Amino acid sequence: MTFRGTDIPAEPGQSVGAALVAAGIVDWRTTRKEGRPRGLFCGIGVCFDCLITVDGTRAERACLIPAADGMRLGDALETGDALGTGDALGASDDGRDRATHHAEEDGDAAHP
Ligand code: FES
Repeated sequence: MTFRGTDIPAEPGQSVGAALVAAGIVDWRTTRKEGRPRGLFCGIGVCFDCLITVDGTRAERACLIPAADGMRLGDALETGDALGTGDALGASDDGRDRATHHAEEDGDAAHP
């Protein structure tokens, strides 16, 4: 696979997100309002933190997409605006569920 032109190795059965993290890439998009970095968080398809463009398809969840030879990852600008996150995904404006979003604003999120 490639991530923004860089080769990314993947093991059989790995998700796109797991392969990126194994390659040392821990964030690949930013939130709309504050430009905060986002990558894997829940790892099970719930939080939408891991949205990424895969082979030109925007807003795929990296934790759910199986890695495969030849995939192009992160070709589009991965910001909240570019991904079109928000109401269309049933998530807050930065792609996270509302409970997590409010916890983050209160400083209670598990990661900054
Ligand atoms: S890491 Fe939460 S949906 Fe992918």
